[in-house]
Amino acid sequence: MGFPEKITGITDLSHAFASAYIQSGELAVDCTAGNGLDTLFLLKKSAPDGFVFAFDIQQDALDRTRTLLENAGIPSCRFRLVHDCHSRLGSYVKQEIAVCMFNLGFLPGGSRDITTTPARVIAALESAITLLKKFGVIVIVMYPGHEQGREEEQTLLNHVQGIDERLCRVMHIRNMNTLKTSPSILVIQKLRA
Ligand SMILES: C[S@@+](CC[C@H](N)C(=O)[O-])C[C@H]1O[C@@H](n2cnc3c(N)ncnc32)[C@H](O)[C@@H]1O
Repeated sequence: MGFPEKITGITDLSHAFASAYIQSGELAVDCTAGNGLDTLFLLKKSAPDGFVFAFDIQQDALDRTRTLLENAGIPSCRFRLVHDCHSRLGSYVKQEIAVCMFNLGFLPGGSRDITTTPARVIAALESAITLLKKFGVIVIVMYPGHEQGREEEQTLLNHVQGIDERLCRVMHIRNMNTLKTSPSILVIQKLRA
């Protein structure tokens, strides 16, 4: 999959960036498993023998993810679903990461009170940068359409501006001619091993 002919959804765009930097057999991390769509995408891109860690603090999300992966015929030896906060990523992942994805906010159809927080995302981001391979990428989809999401986006944008430019390229993609509340994407590429 490359970039879509017509840019419509933010998910398509986030997948296009991610898919450019992951190959068969590589390791990827989904920091926010949710319904499992990003986890499944990463498993397909790293097939047949790549591996994906998927984190979520809600067992319900991991159950949904497991069902999706099983229905898609993904062998269980290719993924690990981690019921823990993504800030503890470094306790589980020891190998080099090709792509790491975050899709912030709350579980669609779940409680809006259980949501990502900037401090935890930043902790996970720092671990992911350390583990990322040279030219690997982190893709973060942010939803500033509600107050908490807006604050989260702003805190993350402030944080990433401080990342050493010799270590990472940091890009922010936003739809400029529509409501300011549309989702945006951060793409962070590590420039050295
Ligand atoms: C918008 S959903 C993710 C959508 C998902 N990527 C998909 O493809 O369906 C955000 C998820 O992040 C999870 N989450 C919130 N805080 C978290 C944390 N600290 N660590 C791991 N997951 C977290 C929520 O439980 C929720 O399931």
